[in-house]
Amino acid sequence: MNICMIGTGYVGLVTGACFANLGNKVICVDIDKTKIDSLNSGICPIYEPGLEELVARSRKAKRLFFTTDLKDAVKKSQVVFIAVGTPPKEDGEADLTYIEDVSRQIAQSLTSYKLIIEKSTVPVETGNWIEHTIKMNNKRKVKFDVASNPEFLKEGSAIDDFMHPDRIVIGAESKRAKDILLKLYKPLKATTIVTDIKSAELIKHASNSFLATKISFINAISNICERAGADILEVAKGVGLDKRIGKDFLYAGAGFGGFCLPKDLDAFIRISEKLGYSLEILKIVRSINEDQKKILLKKIENNLWILKGKTVSILGLSFKPETDDIRFAPSIDIIKALLAEGVKIKAFDPKAMEKAKGKLTNVDFCSDPYSAVKNADCVVIMTEWKIFKNLDWKRVKKLVKQPLIVDGRNIFEDPKKIINIGFKYIAMGRKI
Ligand code: UGA
Repeated sequence: MNICMIGTGYVGLVTGACFANLGNKVICVDIDKTKIDSLNSGICPIYEPGLEELVARSRKAKRLFFTTDLKDAVKKSQVVFIAVGTPPKEDGEADLTYIEDVSRQIAQSLTSYKLIIEKSTVPVETGNWIEHTIKMNNKRKVKFDVASNPEFLKEGSAIDDFMHPDRIVIGAESKRAKDILLKLYKPLKATTIVTDIKSAELIKHASNSFLATKISFINAISNICERAGADILEVAKGVGLDKRIGKDFLYAGAGFGGFCLPKDLDAFIRISEKLGYSLEILKIVRSINEDQKKILLKKIENNLWILKGKTVSILGLSFKPETDDIRFAPSIDIIKALLAEGVKIKAFDPKAMEKAKGKLTNVDFCSDPYSAVKNADCVVIMTEWKIFKNLDWKRVKKLVKQPLIVDGRNIFEDPKKIINIGFKYIAMGRKI
Protein backbone atom coordinates (compact mmCIF):
# COMPACT_ATOMS: atom_id res chain seq x y z
CA MET A 1 0.00 0.00 0.00
CA ASN A 2 1.00 3.62 -0.33
CA ILE A 3 1.25 5.02 3.16
CA CYS A 4 1.81 8.53 4.44
CA MET A 5 3.17 8.77 8.00
CA ILE A 6 2.81 12.25 9.44
CA GLY A 7 5.28 12.87 12.26
CA THR A 8 8.70 11.21 12.31
CA GLY A 9 9.11 11.10 16.03
CA TYR A 10 9.65 7.85 17.83
CA VAL A 11 6.32 6.25 16.89
CA GLY A 12 6.12 7.55 13.33
CA LEU A 13 9.65 6.68 12.36
CA VAL A 14 9.61 3.15 13.78
CA THR A 15 6.14 2.39 12.42
CA GLY A 16 6.94 3.89 9.02
CA ALA A 17 10.19 1.93 8.70
CA CYS A 18 8.46 -1.30 9.77
CA PHE A 19 5.59 -0.87 7.29
CA ALA A 20 8.17 -0.24 4.55
CA ASN A 21 9.96 -3.40 5.62
CA LEU A 22 6.69 -5.28 5.10
CA GLY A 23 6.72 -4.19 1.44
CA ASN A 24 4.63 -1.03 1.54
CA LYS A 25 5.71 2.29 0.07
CA VAL A 26 5.93 4.77 2.94
CA ILE A 27 6.40 8.52 2.83
CA CYS A 28 7.32 9.97 6.22
CA VAL A 29 6.51 13.63 6.73
CA ASP A 30 7.77 16.09 9.30
CA ILE A 31 7.80 19.89 9.62
CA ASP A 32 11.32 19.72 11.05
CA LYS A 33 13.48 20.19 7.94
CA THR A 34 16.74 19.43 9.78
CA LYS A 35 15.35 16.07 10.86
CA ILE A 36 14.14 15.23 7.34
CA ASP A 37 17.50 16.30 5.86
CA SER A 38 19.42 14.10 8.27
CA LEU A 39 17.10 11.13 7.63
CA ASN A 40 17.59 11.69 3.91
CA SER A 41 21.32 11.51 4.46
CA GLY A 42 20.99 8.26 6.40
CA ILE A 43 21.25 9.60 9.96
CA CYS A 44 18.67 8.48 12.55
CA PRO A 45 17.64 11.14 15.08
CA ILE A 46 17.04 8.51 17.82
CA TYR A 47 18.83 5.43 19.02
CA GLU A 48 16.65 2.33 18.73
CA PRO A 49 18.23 -1.10 18.18
CA GLY A 50 18.07 -2.09 14.50
CA LEU A 51 16.32 1.09 13.35
CA GLU A 52 19.16 2.74 11.45
CA GLU A 53 19.78 -0.45 9.46
CA LEU A 54 16.07 -0.91 8.76
CA VAL A 55 15.73 2.68 7.53
CA ALA A 56 18.82 2.32 5.33
CA ARG A 57 17.57 -0.96 3.85
CA SER A 58 14.10 0.39 3.07
CA ARG A 59 15.47 3.60 1.58
CA LYS A 60 17.75 1.61 -0.66
CA ALA A 61 14.82 -0.56 -1.79
CA LYS A 62 12.93 2.69 -2.59
CA ARG A 63 10.17 1.87 -0.14
CA LEU A 64 10.84 4.60 2.45
CA PHE A 65 10.96 8.33 1.76
CA PHE A 66 11.26 11.45 3.90
CA THR A 67 9.79 14.84 3.08
CA THR A 68 8.42 18.06 4.55
CA ASP A 69 5.75 18.25 1.83
CA LEU A 70 2.60 16.99 3.57
CA LYS A 71 0.26 17.86 0.71
CA ASP A 72 2.23 15.87 -1.84
CA ALA A 73 2.67 12.89 0.53
CA VAL A 74 -1.07 12.76 1.27
CA LYS A 75 -1.92 13.00 -2.41
CA LYS A 76 0.29 10.00 -3.21
CA SER A 77 -1.11 7.77 -0.42
CA GLN A 78 -4.25 5.80 0.28
CA VAL A 79 -3.58 5.48 3.98
CA VAL A 80 -2.55 8.43 6.15
CA PHE A 81 -1.27 7.86 9.68
CA ILE A 82 -1.19 10.72 12.16
CA ALA A 83 1.77 10.16 14.47
CA VAL A 84 2.51 13.70 15.64
CA GLY A 85 3.33 14.61 19.23
CA THR A 86 0.67 15.07 21.90
CA PRO A 87 2.81 16.74 24.59
CA PRO A 88 1.44 17.45 28.06
CA LYS A 89 0.08 20.88 28.95
CA GLU A 90 0.79 22.45 32.38
CA ASP A 91 -2.17 20.61 33.95
CA GLY A 92 -1.28 17.26 32.39
CA GLU A 93 -3.94 17.36 29.68
CA ALA A 94 -2.72 16.23 26.25
CA ASP A 95 -2.07 19.15 23.92
CA LEU A 96 -3.79 18.19 20.67
CA THR A 97 -2.81 21.30 18.71
CA TYR A 98 -0.61 19.34 16.29
CA ILE A 99 -3.35 16.76 15.71
CA GLU A 100 -5.85 19.49 14.82
CA ASP A 101 -3.33 21.26 12.62
CA VAL A 102 -2.46 18.12 10.70
CA SER A 103 -6.15 17.14 10.33
CA ARG A 104 -6.83 20.51 8.73
CA GLN A 105 -3.88 20.14 6.36
CA ILE A 106 -4.94 16.61 5.39
CA ALA A 107 -8.45 17.89 4.61
CA GLN A 108 -7.04 20.61 2.39
CA SER A 109 -4.91 18.04 0.54
CA LEU A 110 -7.69 15.52 -0.17
CA THR A 111 -8.14 14.68 -3.83
CA SER A 112 -9.31 11.05 -3.56
CA TYR A 113 -10.53 8.64 -0.83
CA LYS A 114 -8.15 8.32 2.15
CA LEU A 115 -8.20 6.36 5.35
CA ILE A 116 -6.90 8.63 8.10
CA ILE A 117 -5.62 6.77 11.13
CA GLU A 118 -4.74 8.18 14.55
CA LYS A 119 -1.55 6.49 15.72
CA SER A 120 -0.48 9.02 18.35
CA THR A 121 -1.70 8.33 21.88
CA VAL A 122 -4.77 10.50 22.27
CA PRO A 123 -7.63 10.93 24.72
CA VAL A 124 -10.92 9.21 23.98
CA GLU A 125 -13.09 11.24 21.57
CA THR A 126 -10.12 12.60 19.58
CA GLY A 127 -11.24 10.52 16.58
CA ASN A 128 -14.54 12.43 16.57
CA TRP A 129 -12.67 15.72 16.55
CA ILE A 130 -10.37 14.63 13.74
CA GLU A 131 -13.39 13.66 11.67
CA HIS A 132 -15.15 16.94 12.47
CA THR A 133 -12.05 19.00 11.57
CA ILE A 134 -11.58 17.20 8.28
CA LYS A 135 -15.26 17.60 7.37
CA MET A 136 -15.07 21.34 8.08
CA ASN A 137 -12.06 21.79 5.78
CA ASN A 138 -12.88 19.25 3.08
CA LYS A 139 -13.95 21.78 0.45
CA ARG A 140 -14.07 19.27 -2.42
CA LYS A 141 -16.22 16.86 -0.34
CA VAL A 142 -13.84 13.97 -0.98
CA LYS A 143 -14.74 10.67 0.72
CA PHE A 144 -12.63 9.68 3.73
CA ASP A 145 -12.71 7.52 6.88
CA VAL A 146 -11.12 8.00 10.27
CA ALA A 147 -9.81 5.07 12.32
CA SER A 148 -7.82 4.51 15.48
CA ASN A 149 -4.87 2.13 15.60
CA PRO A 150 -2.98 2.61 18.87
CA GLU A 151 0.66 1.55 19.09
CA PHE A 152 2.07 -0.62 21.85
CA LEU A 153 5.77 -0.37 20.98
CA LYS A 154 8.29 -0.24 23.80
CA GLU A 155 11.42 1.83 23.34
CA GLY A 156 14.44 -0.41 23.12
CA SER A 157 12.52 -3.29 21.52
CA ALA A 158 10.20 -1.38 19.21
CA ILE A 159 10.98 -3.22 15.97
CA ASP A 160 10.50 -6.61 17.56
CA ASP A 161 7.28 -5.36 19.20
CA PHE A 162 6.02 -4.22 15.79
CA MET A 163 6.85 -7.51 14.08
CA HIS A 164 5.54 -9.71 16.94
CA PRO A 165 2.78 -7.78 18.70
CA ASP A 166 0.71 -9.25 21.55
CA ARG A 167 -2.30 -7.81 19.74
CA ILE A 168 -3.30 -5.32 17.09
CA VAL A 169 -6.15 -2.99 17.93
CA ILE A 170 -8.19 -1.55 15.09
CA GLY A 171 -10.83 1.03 15.90
CA ALA A 172 -12.83 1.36 12.69
CA GLU A 173 -16.45 2.08 11.98
CA SER A 174 -16.81 1.43 8.25
CA LYS A 175 -16.20 -1.82 6.37
CA ARG A 176 -13.81 -0.07 3.99
CA ALA A 177 -11.64 1.28 6.84
CA LYS A 178 -11.66 -2.04 8.66
CA ASP A 179 -10.69 -4.00 5.53
CA ILE A 180 -7.79 -1.68 4.68
CA LEU A 181 -6.33 -1.99 8.18
CA LEU A 182 -6.79 -5.75 8.30
CA LYS A 183 -5.01 -6.05 4.94
CA LEU A 184 -2.19 -3.80 6.10
CA TYR A 185 -1.50 -5.92 9.18
CA LYS A 186 -2.19 -9.32 7.57
CA PRO A 187 1.50 -10.19 7.07
CA LEU A 188 2.08 -10.07 10.85
CA LYS A 189 -0.42 -12.89 11.49
CA ALA A 190 -1.14 -11.41 14.92
CA THR A 191 -4.18 -11.53 17.21
CA THR A 192 -6.31 -8.63 16.06
CA ILE A 193 -9.35 -7.04 17.60
CA VAL A 194 -11.67 -4.66 15.82
CA THR A 195 -13.60 -2.18 17.95
CA ASP A 196 -15.30 1.16 17.60
CA ILE A 197 -12.96 4.17 17.60
CA LYS A 198 -13.59 5.29 21.19
CA SER A 199 -12.95 1.81 22.59
CA ALA A 200 -9.65 1.61 20.69
CA GLU A 201 -8.62 4.98 22.09
CA LEU A 202 -9.48 3.81 25.60
CA ILE A 203 -7.60 0.52 25.19
CA LYS A 204 -4.38 2.49 24.77
CA HIS A 205 -4.82 4.74 27.82
CA ALA A 206 -6.11 1.87 29.95
CA SER A 207 -3.16 -0.36 28.96
CA ASN A 208 -0.47 2.18 29.79
CA SER A 209 -2.25 3.08 33.04
CA PHE A 210 -2.46 -0.57 34.03
CA LEU A 211 1.27 -1.01 33.38
CA ALA A 212 2.01 2.07 35.49
CA THR A 213 -0.25 0.68 38.22
CA LYS A 214 1.65 -2.61 38.24
CA ILE A 215 4.95 -0.78 38.69
CA SER A 216 3.68 1.49 41.46
CA PHE A 217 2.06 -1.47 43.18
CA ILE A 218 5.31 -3.41 43.28
CA ASN A 219 7.20 -0.30 44.39
CA ALA A 220 4.77 0.13 47.28
CA ILE A 221 5.26 -3.53 48.22
CA SER A 222 9.04 -3.06 48.02
CA ASN A 223 8.74 -0.36 50.68
CA ILE A 224 6.88 -2.82 52.90
CA CYS A 225 9.57 -5.44 52.21
CA GLU A 226 12.24 -3.04 53.50
CA ARG A 227 10.34 -2.41 56.70
CA ALA A 228 9.45 -6.07 57.27
CA GLY A 229 12.85 -7.51 56.32
CA ALA A 230 11.59 -9.37 53.22
CA ASP A 231 13.05 -9.33 49.72
CA ILE A 232 11.11 -7.73 46.84
CA LEU A 233 12.72 -9.97 44.22
CA GLU A 234 11.42 -13.07 45.98
CA VAL A 235 8.02 -11.51 46.62
CA ALA A 236 7.62 -10.32 43.00
CA LYS A 237 8.63 -13.75 41.72
CA GLY A 238 6.09 -15.49 43.95
CA VAL A 239 3.34 -13.08 43.03
CA GLY A 240 4.15 -13.05 39.31
CA LEU A 241 3.97 -16.80 38.95
CA ASP A 242 0.22 -16.53 39.28
CA LYS A 243 -0.76 -16.48 35.59
CA ARG A 244 -3.57 -14.03 36.31
CA ILE A 245 -0.98 -11.53 37.53
CA GLY A 246 2.05 -12.34 35.32
CA LYS A 247 5.71 -11.73 36.03
CA ASP A 248 6.28 -8.74 33.73
CA PHE A 249 6.35 -5.18 35.02
CA LEU A 250 6.94 -6.24 38.60
CA TYR A 251 10.44 -4.78 38.91
CA ALA A 252 10.75 -2.37 41.81
CA GLY A 253 13.09 0.59 41.56
CA ALA A 254 13.38 4.33 41.12
CA GLY A 255 10.02 4.48 39.34
CA PHE A 256 8.80 4.69 35.77
CA GLY A 257 9.85 7.42 33.36
CA GLY A 258 9.82 7.98 29.62
CA PHE A 259 7.50 9.99 27.45
CA CYS A 260 4.61 7.51 27.62
CA LEU A 261 3.62 6.19 31.04
CA PRO A 262 3.93 9.44 33.07
CA LYS A 263 2.36 11.59 30.36
CA ASP A 264 -0.43 9.16 29.48
CA LEU A 265 -1.28 8.72 33.14
CA ASP A 266 -1.72 12.49 33.56
CA ALA A 267 -3.72 12.76 30.35
CA PHE A 268 -6.00 9.87 31.34
CA ILE A 269 -6.64 11.42 34.76
CA ARG A 270 -7.56 14.73 33.09
CA ILE A 271 -9.84 13.28 30.39
CA SER A 272 -11.63 11.16 33.00
CA GLU A 273 -12.27 14.22 35.13
CA LYS A 274 -13.69 15.96 32.08
CA LEU A 275 -15.97 12.95 31.57
CA GLY A 276 -17.18 13.29 35.18
CA TYR A 277 -15.28 10.46 36.87
CA SER A 278 -12.19 10.88 38.98
CA LEU A 279 -9.66 8.07 38.51
CA GLU A 280 -8.38 8.22 42.11
CA ILE A 281 -6.46 4.98 41.67
CA LEU A 282 -4.23 6.59 39.04
CA LYS A 283 -3.55 9.61 41.23
CA ILE A 284 -2.11 7.26 43.86
CA VAL A 285 -0.10 5.45 41.16
CA ARG A 286 1.38 8.80 40.16
CA SER A 287 2.23 9.86 43.70
CA ILE A 288 3.86 6.51 44.55
CA ASN A 289 6.02 6.99 41.46
CA GLU A 290 7.09 10.47 42.56
CA ASP A 291 7.83 9.14 46.07
CA GLN A 292 10.21 6.48 44.74
CA LYS A 293 12.61 9.22 43.64
CA LYS A 294 12.43 10.85 47.07
CA ILE A 295 13.05 7.48 48.71
CA LEU A 296 16.14 6.97 46.57
CA LEU A 297 17.43 10.44 47.42
CA LYS A 298 16.88 9.76 51.11
CA LYS A 299 18.95 6.58 50.82
CA ILE A 300 21.83 8.58 49.33
CA GLU A 301 21.55 11.25 52.02
CA ASN A 302 21.24 8.76 54.89
CA ASN A 303 24.48 7.12 53.82
CA LEU A 304 26.51 10.23 53.04
CA TRP A 305 25.33 12.34 55.98
CA ILE A 306 26.29 15.78 54.60
CA LEU A 307 25.61 16.03 50.86
CA LYS A 308 27.33 19.36 50.20
CA GLY A 309 30.77 18.90 48.66
CA LYS A 310 30.39 15.14 48.09
CA THR A 311 30.88 13.50 44.69
CA VAL A 312 28.13 11.23 43.38
CA SER A 313 28.62 9.06 40.32
CA ILE A 314 25.45 8.41 38.31
CA LEU A 315 25.50 5.28 36.17
CA GLY A 316 22.67 5.44 33.65
CA LEU A 317 20.76 8.47 32.40
CA SER A 318 18.19 7.06 29.97
CA PHE A 319 14.76 6.19 31.43
CA LYS A 320 15.46 2.53 30.64
CA PRO A 321 18.14 0.48 28.86
CA GLU A 322 18.58 0.26 25.07
CA THR A 323 17.43 3.79 24.41
CA ASP A 324 18.96 7.27 24.42
CA ASP A 325 15.67 8.78 25.60
CA ILE A 326 15.94 10.84 28.79
CA ARG A 327 12.44 12.33 28.80
CA PHE A 328 10.95 12.10 32.31
CA ALA A 329 13.89 9.88 33.27
CA PRO A 330 14.14 9.54 37.07
CA SER A 331 17.92 10.14 36.73
CA ILE A 332 17.31 13.74 35.67
CA ASP A 333 15.24 14.56 38.78
CA ILE A 334 17.77 12.83 41.03
CA ILE A 335 20.70 14.72 39.47
CA LYS A 336 18.90 18.07 39.73
CA ALA A 337 18.02 17.45 43.39
CA LEU A 338 21.62 16.47 44.23
CA LEU A 339 23.06 19.48 42.36
CA ALA A 340 20.73 21.73 44.37
CA GLU A 341 22.30 20.28 47.55
CA GLY A 342 25.79 21.18 46.35
CA VAL A 343 26.79 17.67 45.24
CA LYS A 344 29.37 17.25 42.46
CA ILE A 345 27.94 14.93 39.79
CA LYS A 346 29.89 12.64 37.50
CA ALA A 347 27.77 10.68 35.03
CA PHE A 348 28.00 8.00 32.39
CA ASP A 349 25.46 6.42 30.03
CA PRO A 350 26.25 4.25 26.98
CA LYS A 351 23.79 6.07 24.69
CA ALA A 352 22.05 9.00 26.38
CA MET A 353 24.96 11.37 27.11
CA GLU A 354 24.41 13.70 24.14
CA LYS A 355 20.73 14.18 24.98
CA ALA A 356 21.53 14.64 28.69
CA LYS A 357 24.13 17.31 27.87
CA GLY A 358 21.35 19.40 26.36
CA LYS A 359 19.26 19.10 29.52
CA LEU A 360 21.77 19.30 32.38
CA THR A 361 24.45 21.80 33.31
CA ASN A 362 27.23 21.44 35.90
CA VAL A 363 27.52 17.70 35.32
CA ASP A 364 30.85 16.08 34.54
CA PHE A 365 29.93 13.69 31.70
CA CYS A 366 32.56 10.93 31.60
CA SER A 367 33.63 8.88 28.61
CA ASP A 368 33.42 5.52 30.40
CA PRO A 369 31.99 4.09 33.63
CA TYR A 370 35.39 3.76 35.32
CA SER A 371 36.19 7.47 34.94
CA ALA A 372 32.69 8.22 36.21
CA VAL A 373 33.22 6.35 39.49
CA LYS A 374 36.71 7.75 40.14
CA ASN A 375 36.83 9.48 43.55
CA ALA A 376 33.08 9.08 44.06
CA ASP A 377 31.62 9.06 47.56
CA CYS A 378 28.64 7.15 46.24
CA VAL A 379 27.82 5.27 43.02
CA VAL A 380 24.13 5.49 42.10
CA ILE A 381 22.71 3.09 39.50
CA MET A 382 19.82 4.71 37.65
CA THR A 383 19.44 2.51 34.55
CA GLU A 384 19.86 -1.26 34.35
CA TRP A 385 22.17 -1.27 31.31
CA LYS A 386 23.83 -4.69 31.08
CA ILE A 387 27.33 -3.22 31.08
CA PHE A 388 26.84 -1.92 34.63
CA LYS A 389 26.08 -5.37 35.97
CA ASN A 390 29.16 -6.69 34.18
CA LEU A 391 31.59 -3.99 35.35
CA ASP A 392 34.81 -5.05 37.04
CA TRP A 393 33.49 -4.08 40.46
CA LYS A 394 36.83 -4.89 42.13
CA ARG A 395 38.38 -2.24 39.93
CA VAL A 396 35.53 0.12 40.79
CA LYS A 397 36.21 -0.47 44.49
CA LYS A 398 39.81 0.69 44.01
CA LEU A 399 38.72 3.82 42.13
CA VAL A 400 36.01 5.20 44.44
CA LYS A 401 36.59 7.37 47.49
CA GLN A 402 33.92 5.58 49.55
CA PRO A 403 32.73 2.03 48.73
CA LEU A 404 29.03 2.87 48.65
CA ILE A 405 26.50 1.79 46.01
CA VAL A 406 22.89 2.94 45.93
CA ASP A 407 21.17 0.78 43.35
CA GLY A 408 17.95 2.34 42.05
CA ARG A 409 17.29 -0.63 39.73
CA ASN A 410 18.23 -3.70 41.80
CA ILE A 411 20.68 -4.90 39.16
CA PHE A 412 22.39 -7.53 41.32
CA GLU A 413 20.29 -10.59 41.95
CA ASP A 414 22.73 -11.73 44.61
CA PRO A 415 23.96 -8.67 46.54
CA LYS A 416 26.49 -10.80 48.45
CA LYS A 417 28.83 -10.75 45.45
CA ILE A 418 29.11 -6.98 45.62
CA ILE A 419 29.14 -6.86 49.42
CA ASN A 420 31.99 -9.39 49.56
CA ILE A 421 34.10 -7.07 47.42
CA GLY A 422 33.76 -4.58 50.23
CA PHE A 423 30.93 -2.32 49.16
CA LYS A 424 28.11 -1.05 51.31
CA TYR A 425 25.18 -1.94 49.04
CA ILE A 426 21.80 -0.22 49.33
CA ALA A 427 18.98 -1.23 46.98
CA MET A 428 15.20 -0.89 46.66
CA GLY A 429 13.20 -3.30 48.82
CA ARG A 430 15.98 -5.88 49.04
CA LYS A 431 16.93 -8.01 52.04
CA ILE A 432 20.64 -7.38 52.40
C1 UGA B 1 5.35 2.08 27.26
C2 UGA B 1 4.50 0.81 27.13
O1 UGA B 1 5.16 -0.26 27.78
C3 UGA B 1 4.28 0.46 25.64
O2 UGA B 1 3.43 -0.66 25.54
C4 UGA B 1 3.64 1.67 24.93
O3 UGA B 1 3.46 1.44 23.55
C5 UGA B 1 4.54 2.87 25.10
O4 UGA B 1 4.73 3.13 26.51
C6 UGA B 1 3.86 4.05 24.44
O5 UGA B 1 2.78 4.45 24.90
O6 UGA B 1 4.36 4.54 23.43
P1 UGA B 1 7.97 2.62 27.08
O7 UGA B 1 7.63 4.01 27.51
O8 UGA B 1 8.88 2.43 25.94
O9 UGA B 1 6.63 1.78 26.72
O10 UGA B 1 8.66 1.92 28.32
P2 UGA B 1 8.31 0.75 29.34
O11 UGA B 1 9.04 -0.46 28.95
O12 UGA B 1 6.85 0.64 29.53
O13 UGA B 1 8.97 1.31 30.67
C7 UGA B 1 8.50 2.51 31.27
C8 UGA B 1 9.22 2.80 32.55
O14 UGA B 1 8.83 1.88 33.55
C9 UGA B 1 10.74 2.72 32.49
O15 UGA B 1 11.27 3.83 33.18
C10 UGA B 1 11.08 1.43 33.20
O16 UGA B 1 12.33 1.48 33.83
C11 UGA B 1 9.96 1.38 34.22
N1 UGA B 1 9.65 0.01 34.69
C12 UGA B 1 9.17 -0.91 33.81
C13 UGA B 1 9.82 -0.31 36.02
O17 UGA B 1 10.24 0.52 36.85
N2 UGA B 1 9.50 -1.59 36.44
C14 UGA B 1 9.03 -2.52 35.59
O18 UGA B 1 8.75 -3.64 36.05
C15 UGA B 1 8.86 -2.19 34.25
